[in-house]
Amino acid sequence: MAQDAIALLESDHQRVEGLVRDFKAAGDAAARLHLAQIICMELTLHAMLEEEIFYPAFAQATGDDQLVERARKEHQHLKELIARVPSADNLDGAIEAIWRNALEHIEEERRDIFARARSSGMELATVGGRIQTRRAEVAATVQEA
Ligand SMILES: [Fe+2]
Ligand SMILES: [Fe+2]
Repeated sequence: MAQDAIALLESDHQRVEGLVRDFKAAGDAAARLHLAQIICMELTLHAMLEEEIFYPAFAQATGDDQLVERARKEHQHLKELIARVPSADNLDGAIEAIWRNALEHIEEERRDIFARARSSGMELATVGGRIQTRRAEVAATVQEA
């Protein structure tokens, strides 16, 4: 039984929130660097799943391209911040900036996109199934690499 797309995306948001908490609490440099990499990878994958699957399905169900356009721009900005992490002198500051931006975006996503998706009659279970399939495909590719 496929999970509701919004529940899946929200559990990604929460997972990253937990990783950011772990990052802040981690004492040694290697652990922090590892967590920073996982945070960036999780956010990148999450943004990709939304852009490839959820946002187009939302735009189709609601006829609203503008919300999706704004969300894509916010993702773009986040990706620019993520791209700077490998060369960041201040890893704490870099992760903090990413999370501050991500949180703002997540709040908008919740308020504008998810709320509207629920009332639109969008096929959330079907879209959730597609998200799960795509995530598994990407995970398999990453493991092969
Ligand atoms: Fe998003
Ligand atoms: Fe999201």
